[in-house]
Amino acid sequence: MSSQEAQLFPHGPDNMAPLESILTEDKNKFKTCNQIGLYRRQKLLPPGQSPYCAELESLSVDKDKATLQIINQDTKVPLRLQIIAFDNTFRLKINEISPLKPKYEVADVLVKEPSAERISVSQIESDFVILENTKGPYKLHITAKPFSISVTAQDKLLLSLNSQGFLYFESLLSPPKSSFYLFHKDSHGLWNETFGDFVDIKANGPASVGLDVSLHGFEYVYGLPEHADVHRLQNTGDSEAYRLYNLDVFAYKIHDKMGTYGSVPLLLAHKVLHTCGIFWLNASETLVEINTRATLQAAPKTRKQRAFPQIDVRWISESGIVDMFLLLGPRPQDVFRQYAHLTGYQAFPPKFSLGYHQCRWNYEDEADVEAVDSGFDEHQIPYDVIWLDIEHTDKKKYFTWDNERFPNPIRMQEELQKKRRKLVVISDPHIKVDPDYILYSEAKDRGYFVKDRNGQDFEGSCWPGTSSYLDFTNPAVRDWYSAQFVLDKYKGSTEVLFIWNDMNEPSVFEAPEMTMPKSAVHYKGWEHRDLHNLYGFYQQMSTYEGLIQRSHGLERPFVLTRSFFAGSQRHGAVWTGDNKAEWEYLKISVPMLLTLSVTGISFCGADVGGFVGDPDPELLIRWYQAGAFQPFFRAHSIQDSKRREPWLFGANSTALIKRAIEERYTLLPFWYLLFYRAHVYAEPVMRPLWVEFPKNPEIFGEEKQYMLGNALLVVPVLEPGVSELDVLFPGSGERWYEFRKHECIMGSLRQKVNIALDEIPVYQRGGSIIPMHTRTGKSTGWMDDFPYELCVALDSKGSAEGELFLDDGHSFEYLQKNMFSYRRLVYQRHILTCRSADTKGKYQSQSIVEKVKLMGVKKQPMEVIVHSTGNKVSVVFTYNHRLSLLSLESLSLCVSADWEIHVKTK
Ligand code: NOJ
Repeated sequence: MSSQEAQLFPHGPDNMAPLESILTEDKNKFKTCNQIGLYRRQKLLPPGQSPYCAELESLSVDKDKATLQIINQDTKVPLRLQIIAFDNTFRLKINEISPLKPKYEVADVLVKEPSAERISVSQIESDFVILENTKGPYKLHITAKPFSISVTAQDKLLLSLNSQGFLYFESLLSPPKSSFYLFHKDSHGLWNETFGDFVDIKANGPASVGLDVSLHGFEYVYGLPEHADVHRLQNTGDSEAYRLYNLDVFAYKIHDKMGTYGSVPLLLAHKVLHTCGIFWLNASETLVEINTRATLQAAPKTRKQRAFPQIDVRWISESGIVDMFLLLGPRPQDVFRQYAHLTGYQAFPPKFSLGYHQCRWNYEDEADVEAVDSGFDEHQIPYDVIWLDIEHTDKKKYFTWDNERFPNPIRMQEELQKKRRKLVVISDPHIKVDPDYILYSEAKDRGYFVKDRNGQDFEGSCWPGTSSYLDFTNPAVRDWYSAQFVLDKYKGSTEVLFIWNDMNEPSVFEAPEMTMPKSAVHYKGWEHRDLHNLYGFYQQMSTYEGLIQRSHGLERPFVLTRSFFAGSQRHGAVWTGDNKAEWEYLKISVPMLLTLSVTGISFCGADVGGFVGDPDPELLIRWYQAGAFQPFFRAHSIQDSKRREPWLFGANSTALIKRAIEERYTLLPFWYLLFYRAHVYAEPVMRPLWVEFPKNPEIFGEEKQYMLGNALLVVPVLEPGVSELDVLFPGSGERWYEFRKHECIMGSLRQKVNIALDEIPVYQRGGSIIPMHTRTGKSTGWMDDFPYELCVALDSKGSAEGELFLDDGHSFEYLQKNMFSYRRLVYQRHILTCRSADTKGKYQSQSIVEKVKLMGVKKQPMEVIVHSTGNKVSVVFTYNHRLSLLSLESLSLCVSADWEIHVKTK
């Protein structure tokens, strides 16, 4: 090995391309839409001439399911359409009646088969039929020729399917007799498809599906992560479609519709009185086109012609069946619930994982870990978790340690544990081909690797050099992998070690688009192309189960994944991969996280500071300030970047970074509550303004500022040199309070706000109560018993409400033994009350409410009296006339007990 190679490969991976060629931003590694055969084929379909007809005489409606045959007039191939309804949701499945062989249907993403409600025929004629779900206001109008479906709400057209005529269903064919056809140029990519030097041989030939949905009266659509793009989905017109194909895109380009690490095929449409979702349950490569237009329609009363907006969405997938869910809301919150009901709720994170995470590729050895850990103490900066990247292993063999660098990992973890801190280590899905590596040899003997198309274990290259890839789609493989996390199996691990799943798109160097060839074969013979977007989902699922098993079902896991699919929220957190230390990447992190949040994945974050490159102090400070108000808060940096622990940029920067991290820790009770509500009610933690202000069209496109829960408006500084910000305070009649200065601002205004480098523009909404801690500790683990402060921001009626959720912060006892305390806080008619929000809760906290701050109290009170445990005590207060701010300090009210505070004004 040359010295240069030795630098790139300190541990000498065998036969791997130089790191430089892997870590490049070469866009040519990835396809554009026109290089994708299935896209080119479906684009040949002329609009408005659907060959499909519904055979209405075949309609059968048993109590909870409608079934209907539709037939392609050209090919005469019949398809079966099945419709079920539940909770203002319709599921439509289209599959071939007598296929040559079954097509892949996504399993494991839906938490259970939805239980259908009664569906009935409300009208049937020779050319159409109307179905209704007896429980909801929605009806399905099925037209026979050409086949189309319209969904109406109170007789108003909401959605229509196949109205553009793009229903497409390639039935499986027998392979052509002549191998010539299989291996020679096939311009439509039917049986083979070439990309650069790679040829994809398709065992089942063409198998794609497609369908269009038009959204009537809608101008705003969101969702379809993951793209490094704005929150509102853009018209795709003649340009690239949104691609959902999980790929390892190093330093991804911004404002690009190509696929990145994960996919959620959920699109949300919003207009003033209606929100709905379209969930396209398909795990193969998917392209989505969006076209906005306006049709001229006569207004109902005046009959004047007016432009009526419409968005046409076209879904195109490489294989599988059509399985579409229409989530009909009508409110944003209803859609979130309908979606979570299908794919699961956000896993409730252990509290430590809501603290700050310190990561780098790599913390070199035990001494490095110890030095960084002590650095936080020296500078009195709270932090919870230190992370180890791939170099901590023996030659990138996961579940092992590099014995020279980490000779005593247990001792290292014990030291962390003493400070109530944790360790996260990486575990990628590729397994080094090395017969002496027990994980490899065992998996090989058991046949647990994905196969190539010739039936041999698939081998590709990744960090360790030649590797095979565990077939996580096989439940036996998942169980086996889960079992690797058990403490006596995973040598050197302790219960403070948690897991990071990376490279799980899966990333395969020197392979087509740096991922697994589509012809690779999984469990039960399914081709990789059928389930590509699910690979990372399954690895995280198996890791999550492993950590549960490790604690015998007692402890809540923490698993971070790079690749994801619909439902990944059930298994932990997601981050946005390899961003850059540039302002544009800080800026794009906000819409990227908002999009993840509205598609179920609340626990999401972006690498603070930017992964690639070296941020200057201003960027780093602003990024910490932004990251402190994003759900997953982790700093991370690439190997060749300069070290950037928070204290390396001079005293002033250290102080500002420390302050940002401390803000995160004081607000921990609020974060914890938001995650509990995401877990139980499917409310996104980080919310675009349209979710909280659904009737204000002027904010539907807003993505620079957002809400945390329904109470905090966050306006991160996303540009250099900013001393003034233009802030939109949404909602007429709303009041907003500067979070730290308590100045009141009326809603519905855009206002210029001065912002110094030490300020984070955050505003509390009038009508809310935010629980906080009065001080911070070394880590979240020190803060359980710390006193609370309640920030009560009054609305124009002088009222406010909020909640607080308490439990042990790490176990499942809140669920299994009702060991929680869920408190409801209400301020009304000058009385603040603290009561139980759920009387089943048995958890008793020792903590007290020490401070209460009431903003918007118009008059100086005469007296403030606390009523608790049968006593009434008058308490000391201060009142600030200018700010209408009433402050109570030195209280001692148990958070788990019932009490009242009476503010007497006369
Ligand atoms: C790629 C990940 O995106 C990055 O965060 C990590 O540091 C490297 N892989 C090395 O494991």
